Amino acid sequence: MTHSYLMPTYNRQPITFVRGEGSWLYTQDNTAYLDALTGIAVCGLGHCHPKITQAITEQAAALVHTSNLYGIQWQERAGTALCQAAGMDSVFFANSGAEANEAALKLARLYAHNKGYSRPKVIVMQHSFHGRTLLTVSATANAKAREGFFTLDDDFIRVPFGDIDAIKQVANSDTQIAAILLEPIQGEGGLNAPTQGFAYLEQIQQLCDENDWLFMLDEVQTGNGRTGKYFAFQHSNAKPDVVTTAKGLGNGFPVGACMVRGRANGLFGAGSHGSTYGGTPLASRVVYSVYEVLANSDVMENATTEGEFIRQAMADNLAQYGVSSRGHGMMIGIVLPSDWDCSSLVDIARDEQKLIINVVGGHVVRLLPALNITRAESEQLVARLTAAIHGLKSQTN
Ligand SMILES: Cc1ncc(COP(=O)(O)O)c(C=O)c1O
Repeated sequence: MTHSYLMPTYNRQPITFVRGEGSWLYTQDNTAYLDALTGIAVCGLGHCHPKITQAITEQAAALVHTSNLYGIQWQERAGTALCQAAGMDSVFFANSGAEANEAALKLARLYAHNKGYSRPKVIVMQHSFHGRTLLTVSATANAKAREGFFTLDDDFIRVPFGDIDAIKQVANSDTQIAAILLEPIQGEGGLNAPTQGFAYLEQIQQLCDENDWLFMLDEVQTGNGRTGKYFAFQHSNAKPDVVTTAKGLGNGFPVGACMVRGRANGLFGAGSHGSTYGGTPLASRVVYSVYEVLANSDVMENATTEGEFIRQAMADNLAQYGVSSRGHGMMIGIVLPSDWDCSSLVDIARDEQKLIINVVGGHVVRLLPALNITRAESEQLVARLTAAIHGLKSQTN
């Protein structure tokens, strides 16, 4: 391979795609790969969805950027649509998930500052992932992501995911807490769904209300229909004060959003936060177009139905190995036995089955297919993944 000038921040796989359509990716020689990862939960409507392509091309020809010094019609439209979909009061548009979470964490500090706190902390979870800026990587649990960066550990308290008693213990201590930040289902950390179901979020909200902490949900990965609802918290009766999202929000166009409600509304004023690019006419039109597709089609129902089908079929096909499945909608974890060496599974799936997957936590196959996958494609996904796992098993026998 020729010398690359790119910083080696990723272990790239030996493959390059040049075209995408729906659930499929194509290499230069036109080999088709079934994409069960969709750019890590980004292209929820599939690659190059015609409505999104149309929005990008039309807006690119009309107006790309003016800055937030001026009114932006599409940002108003996208903001209204998104806040109404989430039941939130206002939104700040950023360019990525990390930036959306950075905004949320700054809001938490401001909230505590306004109460006269001197050194507030934010409660975060074990196995969490919130981004790579200094503040968000400090909120992230992954040791590799944090190593060497003098992370701001004094600003966070980490508790086990799903452990309400651990949060109660923090509430009973005299630590000054500004907020709690968590993912409704943890993605990078191993596709972990709380064992109590989404009612867990209601218990957390109650604790936040009792203690006047901001209840902040990172829906960067779970938002925009991924779990079968617009936002994952909508599976429960919980109402967060702050919701962040990104990934599926732009279906591949880089954009993020931090939404607030009630006591978290009105904290940022002119000059206290900002972004040159946040919510450009182009980005906002894409956000609005994604919203229109999600709101006016059955893709979220499809995500629920096909997600259930894939989870069930995989667990049935691999029952002899004790394989189980978890997740919601199109956020699927296929849990292989923890003593299996799964390090070659991604390669086997790609090279032998032309299937794009990911493995997290050492032994959990993470599937993040397009929300609008067809039943025929789901069946192919199941058949290819089953064959790849049999292949892995025979290799390691
Ligand atoms: C839950 C969650 N939060 C935040 C991020 C960071 O998003 P980005 O890579 O767009 O900065 C990710 C990315 O994987 C994520 O899954």
